[in-house]
Amino acid sequence: MHISSSTIICVCASPFTADEASNYGNAYRRKYNMKCVTWIFELLGTDKFRACSRIRVLAGLRLPHKVHTWATSSGHIIHDDFPDTHLRANIQSHCYKLPCSWKTFILHMLGWALSLDMDSLPYINPKNDRRVALITAGNSGIGYFTVLHLYLHGYVVYIAGRSKTRGMKSIENLKKEAKHTAGRYSRPERLSRFFGELHFLEMDLSSLASVLEAVAHFITCEKNLNLLINNAGNSFLPYTTTPDGFELQLQTNYVAPFLLTTKLLPLMEKTVDFYPEAGPPRIIYITSVTHRFVLRYFNLSTRFHYRPNALFTWIRYALAKTAGIHFMKMLALRNPRLICASVQPGIVMSTNYFAYWTRLPIIGILFWCLFQLFSFIFGTSIEKGAQAVFKCCVDPALTPRNNSGSHYDLFKETLPASVASNMDYAAQSWIWTTHQLEKRNIEFS
Ligand SMILES: NC(=O)c1ccc[n+]([C@@H]2O[C@H](COP(=O)([O-])OP(=O)(O)OC[C@H]3O[C@@H](n4cnc5c(N)ncnc54)[C@H](OP(=O)(O)O)[C@@H]3O)[C@@H](O)[C@H]2O)c1
Repeated sequence: MHISSSTIICVCASPFTADEASNYGNAYRRKYNMKCVTWIFELLGTDKFRACSRIRVLAGLRLPHKVHTWATSSGHIIHDDFPDTHLRANIQSHCYKLPCSWKTFILHMLGWALSLDMDSLPYINPKNDRRVALITAGNSGIGYFTVLHLYLHGYVVYIAGRSKTRGMKSIENLKKEAKHTAGRYSRPERLSRFFGELHFLEMDLSSLASVLEAVAHFITCEKNLNLLINNAGNSFLPYTTTPDGFELQLQTNYVAPFLLTTKLLPLMEKTVDFYPEAGPPRIIYITSVTHRFVLRYFNLSTRFHYRPNALFTWIRYALAKTAGIHFMKMLALRNPRLICASVQPGIVMSTNYFAYWTRLPIIGILFWCLFQLFSFIFGTSIEKGAQAVFKCCVDPALTPRNNSGSHYDLFKETLPASVASNMDYAAQSWIWTTHQLEKRNIEFS
């Protein structure tokens, strides 16, 4: 079979039929105007693909003469099942070469990354399977859409936020939006699919006391916690310290999520035994591509309180996000029964991520134009960013053994920057944080 540079390969697992597969392939061919080759093969005894209700896509990237880069929506290829030995060898030698090639990276940055078929991810009936999720900041941006999908898929979601008014307003909007989305379900689906529940939990990450209060309250409300998403964070702000004495971005992006997570760990560990049928609980941390700006390790006490702020605020933010990735790696090591992962949701300009800069008087308009241009070239949509987070939260293919401690760039498992990947640095970040919290009379078991 000739594979040219303009070939898309679709790989479908049985039990799907050839017609279903080629329909899917044709949709891609039309979209990208490329030739499409479809393989169907048996995955006997493998439940990774069987677990989903729809065809999993596939390789949607342009292929050079040999299979050079490879992506599936699940992020995995079961290469041993590949029918062609030559291709299999190529896949083995190339597809796990991370990070991905420049070509893939550019396509990805240009927004070509595949979006996800949300209905392919498992739906839970909350009437007999009460899975509880807690997300920090679900009232805006990426968090909002992540909550929407969790709610549509039957989760009981607690939205932790610092403003009750904004939180309650977003719950109202989410309920309306869920009803609207459910309008496109078929009649039998509408009768059998129930939404989850939405609750608000007051928590201000810039105050450690507020985090502890919220945890104490949450523990009285729920007996299990299946999913914790550390999504909230401040970005690119001028240098400020919190009442707890940390730099604001470091506290909201790293120290407070660290405290929240470690305080909820006993409940999550209990959930493993109490609720085994729900699978291992997951802890997801939302990080950012800017963590790559950290070219060498800095002790987290380094404040970077220098001018110009426009430069050093990025470094402070990047440092906090690097520490967040370290945190997930350490948690994965210490808690082998859970799945802990960090996710980069892409560059999403339509949230409040750059709000500080775009709201500056007069010059803010310039920043707005600049960011819009940047977004046009490199950005991705909120929806796609939230899909990447949601996939990590519920994808049944992820296991503690194979995926805990992993890092995802949108839908693709990848390696974070070398400082973030380094386990010695991860241990140093952990020790620094526990000492800092102990200094503030916060104890750890
Ligand atoms: N957008 C991107 O391109 C991008 C890229 C990489 C990573 N991320 C990360 O993705 C996450 C979500 O960001 P986003 O893009 O959706 O931006 P966003 O709309 O600004 O969301 C940030 C959320 O964090 C909350 N928050 C900030 N400080 C808080 C505090 N002290 N206590 C409690 N909540 C607080 C905000 O709550 P309020 O509504 O009360 O302000 C807001 O809901 C962040 O961690 C961000 O770093 C975003």
